[in-house]
Amino acid sequence: MLQRPRRNRQSATIRTMVEENRLSVKDMMFPLFVMDGAHRKSEIASMPGIHRFSLDLLLKEIEECVELGIRSFALFPQIAEDKKDAMASESYRKGNLYLESIHAIASRFPEISLLTDVAMDPYSSDGHDGIVKNGQILNDETLPILAKMAIAQAQAGSKLIGPSDMMDGRVGYLRESLDEAGFSDVGIMAYTAKYASAFYGPFRDALESAPKFGDKKTYQMNPANQREALREAELDELEGADFLMVKPALAYLDIIALLKENSHLPIAAYNVSGEYAMVKAAALNGWMDGEKAMLESLLAIKRAGAQVILTYFAKEFAQLKIS
Ligand code: PBG
Repeated sequence: MLQRPRRNRQSATIRTMVEENRLSVKDMMFPLFVMDGAHRKSEIASMPGIHRFSLDLLLKEIEECVELGIRSFALFPQIAEDKKDAMASESYRKGNLYLESIHAIASRFPEISLLTDVAMDPYSSDGHDGIVKNGQILNDETLPILAKMAIAQAQAGSKLIGPSDMMDGRVGYLRESLDEAGFSDVGIMAYTAKYASAFYGPFRDALESAPKFGDKKTYQMNPANQREALREAELDELEGADFLMVKPALAYLDIIALLKENSHLPIAAYNVSGEYAMVKAAALNGWMDGEKAMLESLLAIKRAGAQVILTYFAKEFAQLKIS
């Protein structure tokens, strides 16, 4: 008997009936950029359709997204160069832009989930994620700064923090610091397998946070490695992570699948700025159907095993009202 898999592809209805994965706006977390000032909105040149907003306009943007069904967001601050220093002291200063934004968002939209970022790079005059001394990025010396940031964010209303610097011992140290400060209900999304990637370029444009010297290869993972991601996952689990994240997503689908198979924690994947920019650039040139490429990329990330997809496409996806 000739096997005919095409029988299950012969109509849209049957194709839908047998499809193994389906995207929903509930899978998605939308990264947002906040900047100083009022009534300000500026498009990021390398990320068409994505803007930095001053807080007043950001709240409006979130409101629109919530109406479209998006319930989950991540927030990153663009900090003026004159507020940056070697110790990122702006990062935990009471009343700073980021903390004020977290507070405003958490009070106005108590039902949403907001991932807040714990890393030095937006505030660092060196453009690195850790304290720099004699050209070295220090691991342990950076921890107390991160703890101050995490606690300040929790006090401002954050319920989920993302230590994104990809250095050692972050999850354990921050878990303990949060618990001691009375924030045992604040979750940690671990940047478990974050690779040293060219795909972060547009994000660094958005925050003007590119490293002033060197690269991030002594802390972010080597794209050549897969087994090392299992080691990182094991450590983050032991240290108390609530989610494991893989980043970038599309070039690392094998890593998403690997962590899904090897952990009981929910897996998140960050469809990063460069992955967004590639699709947009090709679509704007008329070289590809942007909407189809978006849907196929997001589906691939879900199929690989991501339960949460951080993506700059979230709003565009939500506007399609796919049910
Ligand atoms: C740094 C950080 C980066 C991103 C999120 N947090 C980039 C980097 O490591 O320089 C990238 C996100 C994106 O490209 O969309 N803490």
